This record gives sequence, C-alpha cells and structure tokens, in this order.
Amino acid sequence: MRFKREFWIKASTAMKLSTAIQVILTFIFAQSVHAQAGLWAQCGGIGWSGPTACVAGLECVVENDYFSHCIVVTTSSASSSVAPPSSSSSASAPSSTPPSSPASACLTPSTVSGFNNSALPNPFTFNDGTPVLTASDWTCRRAQISALILGYEAGTLPGPPQTLTSTFTQSGTTGTLAITAANDGPSITFSQTITFPSGTAPAGGWPLLIAFEGGSIPVPSGIAVLSYSNSNMAQQNDATSRGLGLFYNLYGSNATASAMTAWVWGVSRIIDVLETTPAANINTQKIAVTGCSRDGKGALMAGAFEPRIALTIPQESGSGGDTCWRLSLYEQNSGSDVQTATEIVGENVWFSTNFANYVNDLSSLPFDHHLLAAMIAPRPLISYENTDVVWLSPLSSFGCMTAAHTVFQALGIPENHGFEQVGGHAHCAWPASLTPSLNAFFDKFLLGQNVSTDEWSTNNVFNGVSWNASDWINWTTPTF
Ligand SMILES: *[C@@H]1O[C@H](CO)[C@@H](O)[C@H](O)[C@H]1NC(C)=O
Ligand SMILES: *[C@@H]1O[C@H](CO)[C@@H](O)[C@H](O)[C@H]1NC(C)=O
Ligand SMILES: *[C@@H]1O[C@H](CO)[C@@H](O)[C@H](O)[C@H]1NC(C)=O
Ligand SMILES: *[C@@H]1O[C@H](CO)[C@@H](O)[C@H](O)[C@H]1NC(C)=O
Ligand SMILES: *[C@@H]1O[C@H](CO)[C@@H](O)[C@H](O)[C@H]1NC(C)=O
Repeated sequence: MRFKREFWIKASTAMKLSTAIQVILTFIFAQSVHAQAGLWAQCGGIGWSGPTACVAGLECVVENDYFSHCIVVTTSSASSSVAPPSSSSSASAPSSTPPSSPASACLTPSTVSGFNNSALPNPFTFNDGTPVLTASDWTCRRAQISALILGYEAGTLPGPPQTLTSTFTQSGTTGTLAITAANDGPSITFSQTITFPSGTAPAGGWPLLIAFEGGSIPVPSGIAVLSYSNSNMAQQNDATSRGLGLFYNLYGSNATASAMTAWVWGVSRIIDVLETTPAANINTQKIAVTGCSRDGKGALMAGAFEPRIALTIPQESGSGGDTCWRLSLYEQNSGSDVQTATEIVGENVWFSTNFANYVNDLSSLPFDHHLLAAMIAPRPLISYENTDVVWLSPLSSFGCMTAAHTVFQALGIPENHGFEQVGGHAHCAWPASLTPSLNAFFDKFLLGQNVSTDEWSTNNVFNGVSWNASDWINWTTPTF
C-alpha cells in the first residue's frame, strides 16, 4: 500500500522531453446557426453573432457583457433564493437548490442494478438506456449522474444546517469570515481568511477564488482569494481519518459523508453566508474554485455539486479527480504505476466506505469521472495535468476529459471546457507557460472580458500507454 502518494514526486529521468513530440490538439467547433438557442446555449454577448432568441419556455439571461445563455424561467420558490442582507446574519437554511430542477418524471436512483460496461458509460443515455436527445433531457440525466456519484462513490451530501450565522471583519486587505453552523445540539465554527485586492471594488463586489488549502495557481489582480481549510472540515491524513474533522463534529462521526462531500458542504456554507454578508463585498455570481492534487479532487467535486460555482479549476487532481477509474486501471495494467480505485480506497478517506464495494468491478459502475466533470457544464471548467508525475495517470486524465468534452459540445459551449497537460515541473508547481490559458478563463468568466477560451492541449506523454478513443468512447455526440 502506498501512503501519502501526493507528496511523492517521481524524478522525470525516463522522460526525454527534448525528444517528446508536442502535439497540440486544437478543437475547432463550428458555430451552430439555429435561429433560436436551446437550453444552456449562448444567446448573446459582445462579439456573439449566433442566435439571440431562445426556444419557447426559455429566457436569455445575461451572465456578463460577453456571455448570455438560455435558461429555464421559473417563478416557483424552487429557484435559488437569497436571504435579506445583513452584515452579521443569522438566517435559517439558505437555499442552494440547483438552478434547474429536473422534471418530476425524472427518476434519480442511487444505484443501477446489473450495469456492466467496461468502457466509459454513455453520457447520452438515461439509466434505463433510452437516449438523451435534448438539453432538457440532459437536465434529468445530470440529476441521475449526481445521484449515482453520491450513491456509489462520494456518500451523503447534506444541505444547509438548521442555523448558519457569520461574522465578518476586515483589516486592510485581509478579511476574516467566521461561520457557525448548528443543528439541534452540536455546533461548529470555522473561519477563513479572504485576501482582497486593493483599490475600489467593481459594482456587484469582488470576484472570488475559493482556494482549497490556499491553492497553488497564480491569481490575476482584481480577484479576492478565500483560503479554505478543507482538511480542517474533514481530515485526510490517511485511512484512519474517517469521521474526523469539523463536519463530523456537527453530523456525527458515523455520518456517511466522505471527505469529498464534507468539503463540498463547507464550500456551500461559505457561499450561503457570503450571499448574506454585504460587508464582505463579494460578487457571489463570480466565484471560482481551485485546489491541487488531493485538494484538486475536492475542487472538482465542489464545482460539480455546488451550482453557484461559476468557474472550476482543478490542478493536477489525478485519479479521483479529472481522470476516469476505468482508464487509470487500464494505464496500471499497461505498465504504469498509477493511483487506481483499489489503491485509493485504502490510502485515504476521500471517498465513501461504500465505494470499496465496487472498486474491484469497475464495469458495474454506471458512471465514471467524465460524468462528474460533465455535471459542471454549462459552467466553465479548466483542468491542468502534469505528465511528469506518473501516478497522476496522464492518459486517464486526457481520455476522461476528452469524453467529458462531448457534453460541452452537445450543449454548444465547447469553449467552456479547457484542458492543459504538460510536463517539466514538480507536482503542484505552476509553469508560466500555462498562465495564458488560466488568465483566459479568469478574464472571461470572472472578470467579464471578451477573450477566447479555446484552451485544449496535451503533450501526449503517456509513458508508452496508447490512447484509442474508440475503445472507450463508443457514443456519438448529439447536438441539443
Ligand atoms: C470580442 O471578441 C470577438 C472575437 O475575438 C471579436 O470578433 C469582437 O470584435 C470582440 N468585441 C469587442 C467589443 O472587443
Ligand atoms: C459483463 O460483461 C462481460 C462482457 O460482455 C462478461 O464477460 C461478464 O460476464 C459480464 N459480467 C457480469 C457480472 O455480468
Ligand atoms: C457501447 O458499449 C455498450 C457496453 O458494451 C453497449 O451496450 C452499447 O451497445 C455500445 N454502443 C455502441 C454504439 O456501440
Ligand atoms: C458509530 O458506529 C459504531 C459501529 O456501528 C457504533 O459502535 C457507535 O456507537 C456509533 N457512534 C455513534 C456516535 O453513533
Ligand atoms: C482502436 O480500437 C478499434 C476498436 O477496438 C480498432 O478497430 C482500431 O484498430 C484501434 N486503432 C488503433 C490505432 O489501434
């Protein structure tokens, strides 16, 4: 058993970068020319020459000057509600309902019995095998995927606690946001530091990056950074960390949440209180999340399960993050020493105890992590991977994100999904060559600038393991 693999950096002696073939894959997608845009599709923005009207039942909603899209108009109280502002708030259960609830006919079981597929499961078929043909079908399919990932792998994800209170203080550019969450008896308090840009905040407040354990990416000016102590929320020292951390002080040490869902829960509570803390001056429509390695796995989960995250940036998340379990096993069986599902359930408490029941029969999983990433769509996602670190499963992340990309294509927004894979640096170090793609995503989705986010490349360094898409992706991508 290999513990603390996150901190093991394999020397790249085998990697002859000088002779490695650099293959830059640029996906160029033809713009659809429908007169009316469908669900999630872009319907406006500076520089946009496509449709500006949405199909019946949808409304073209402005996200920023450069991006409007078609979403379901709902007048019911099911849509996200924001409690009245107060600087030291005491609100009961703020809502974090996803922006679009599936149709009532959408069945979302937590398991699919008899599932057996050694290739990646098809995003575009429902659990019962019927095809996903439209964007509203996708809304239901997404809800199915969410239930399956929690059911098999990630465990329980509780909603808001009975009471949530916060205090915010600021000194110079440093803010402190202390949050107290309570259920009947127990209560917990967790505190995070927000580092603000200097100068005057834009109307609507500062954009914010929630950085798991502080993060390790360069942040452009004009964006506040909240350092999230996720290991404090749910400990992740090793396999003995199960049930330890603030989350479990509130929900009980036997709570069936994993570290992943406990971390997501904490992110959601931070956003809950930011929505009701005007003194913090955060624009809660412009929140990004990041983390590296184990914390990158968590950042990806947060982006998938918290729909108020506007931009998701996992860095070197590897297995359990932007890789697929099936592909990592293939990589291992092809001779690379990578982190697999069977290894990971013994290494740490990131996933539920239930997941261990499935790791030796991956074909029975009716999902893989291409579908976790696809849950983020249409919201933007860019993930970074490092081919020098073999155990991160470089083929697996490339293949898995290639599969996830088909969902962004189907929704008509492939430019909302980026992937960058290079070597030549230590684990969680940041090579300057990646900064332009990162800035493009920040600029467009947090800072409202008109820039291209067609960011997709790999160096193709898979340690001799060959990638054959047709072995893993046997679906054709619909156009919604
Ligand atoms: C926005 O970007 C597009 C594509 O680069 C360009 O055609 C358009 O002129 C830009 N608009 C503005 C206002 O800069
Ligand atoms: C799954 O499918 C494979 C190939 O079709 C077959 O060999 C295997 O027996 C099946 N497994 C189960 C549990 O049905
Ligand atoms: C894809 O693979 C699954 C599982 O083996 C199979 O059921 C399905 O028919 C395949 N689809 C296509 C289009 O080949
Ligand atoms: C947790 O589960 C164990 C084993 O089932 C049990 O002995 C213990 O009492 C439970 N603890 C709590 C707080 O429920
Ligand atoms: C990829 O896999 C398919 C199906 O297994 C096979 O027909 C094809 O020859 C493979 N291509 C390469 C380049 O290995």
